[in-house]
Amino acid sequence: MSTAISPTAYNYKVVRQFAIMTVVWGILGMGLGVFIASQLVWPELNFGLPWTTFGRLRPLHTNLVIFAFGGCALFATSYYVVQRTCQTRLISDSLAAFTFWGWQAVIVGAIITLPLGYTTTKEYAELEWPLAILLAIVWVSYGLVFFGTITKRNTKHIYVGNWFYGAFIVVTAMLHIVNHASLPVSFFKSYSAYAGATDAMIQWWYGHNAVGFFLTTGFLGMMYYFVPKQAERPIYSYRLSIVHFWALITLYIWAGPHHLHYTALPDWAQSLGMAMSIILLAPSWGGMINGMMTLSGAWHKLRTDPILRFLVVSLAFYGMSTFEGPMMAIKTVNSLSHYTDWTIGHVHAGALGWVAMISIGAIYHMIPKLFGRAQMHSIGLINTHFWLATIGTVLYIASMWVNGITQGLMWRAINDDGTLTYSFVEALQASHPGFIVRALGGAFFASGMLFMAYNVWRTVRASNPAEAKAAEQIAVVGVH
Ligand code: HEM
Ligand code: HEM
Repeated sequence: MSTAISPTAYNYKVVRQFAIMTVVWGILGMGLGVFIASQLVWPELNFGLPWTTFGRLRPLHTNLVIFAFGGCALFATSYYVVQRTCQTRLISDSLAAFTFWGWQAVIVGAIITLPLGYTTTKEYAELEWPLAILLAIVWVSYGLVFFGTITKRNTKHIYVGNWFYGAFIVVTAMLHIVNHASLPVSFFKSYSAYAGATDAMIQWWYGHNAVGFFLTTGFLGMMYYFVPKQAERPIYSYRLSIVHFWALITLYIWAGPHHLHYTALPDWAQSLGMAMSIILLAPSWGGMINGMMTLSGAWHKLRTDPILRFLVVSLAFYGMSTFEGPMMAIKTVNSLSHYTDWTIGHVHAGALGWVAMISIGAIYHMIPKLFGRAQMHSIGLINTHFWLATIGTVLYIASMWVNGITQGLMWRAINDDGTLTYSFVEALQASHPGFIVRALGGAFFASGMLFMAYNVWRTVRASNPAEAKAAEQIAVVGVH
């Protein structure tokens, strides 16, 4: 197949910027994760200062890993995928640059304000109103760049990966704007527009769909592009991908109440959330199977290609966490798991195993192409990273399962006379070994990111600006 070179080129600059920042924020966010995990082992690490306490650094960790690391990975890959699958340049370079600098500004704002104690107190929506408004403006600009690029595409149809990215962008905007509705009383303090159980419901409608659309749908967009590309196989079933898309986005939005079992939320709403969560297993596994089966006939590549291993293992963890989630949504199971480390284990099965692994695989796939190199500086180092990440994730989630079930059972144990068998402190003492194993697992995972940084740096340093420029040319005919 011949390949004509078009006079215009892809905008890879913004993709490169977001890709590099994914690695930088990954190291900082996960490094902070290891630090707060260590605080739970050695409380002296709180240093007796308000700014360095677990309570203030924990939301900084979640903001850095979800929005800085995950967000930059989503921006980088979506800008890359939308250009290549639509065979056109981003609709506006300046608006794309604004999304990059605006997004970094929001993150820097989080790094300053959260340790200082400025917070709305809503989980994953902690940023106070000035930053929340900036975030909304950046996000709407992102939507304009993404959908604008789709409208000027040179291909007939819109590749399914873009559907997932598109849904993630639209729903994230909706969630963020509705949940952040509030009344500012000063520059750094606002009060939610909602009250009581309604506030809780709005917050977990947001919270669960932050998981469903930010941490899942966007990354599924990544999956639908990078798994077939890296495996050099077409997606297993295009029809399944369409069913997967519509089923997933229709169901996710209803599942939020599973975060509020046994609360003041009306019982019917809790049961609805539970039922929708259980049904959600089907599209989740449909997507996972679609990704996995794409490797039919290409499984042997796993022996030599650690990037593909990252992508496939991420799908395995996606399958695992989306089986575990619906189980935890069952009210009787939730009565054991809620408030315990089981939830934390579930979170990180999704966060480390799925979100981080697929992002890492996608970044390794893109970096050589973005910088005009044939491949990454060292495949051996990618392999080392793969094992550190996999072992780290397994240590993390296994220790949290043990801790979670131990805590749940100890808290509910009752003597014949109706008194509690164990005090809270006894359950905490029983959790200590698990905390140590989790910190170790986290250190494995985070150290893998350092290998990645070195490997990326060597690849970028070896790149030739002319070759990098040539890589930006749009291949008008041929495989995109
Ligand atoms: C079918 C898919 C899933 C369902 C039905 C589901 C269900 C659940 C349930 C029942 C909880 C515990 C709520 C509680 O007791 O407070 C939970 C917590 C959580 N899940 Fe999932 N989950 C799913 C997939 C995922 C995935 C793939 C990720 C990550 C990428 C994830 C991230 C989280 C997070 C961050 C929390 C903790 C929220 C918090 O309390 O702060 N979940 N999920
Ligand atoms: C080296 C890797 C990591 C380590 C050591 C780590 C450690 C931790 C720790 C210690 C907590 C607090 C747990 C508690 O309150 O008991 C936490 C919470 C959390 N982390 Fe991580 N983390 C890591 C990576 C990540 C990544 C990559 C993500 C997302 C992409 C993530 C998302 C979260 C979320 C959503 C929570 C809040 C969970 C909840 O409220 O239920 N973490 N992490």
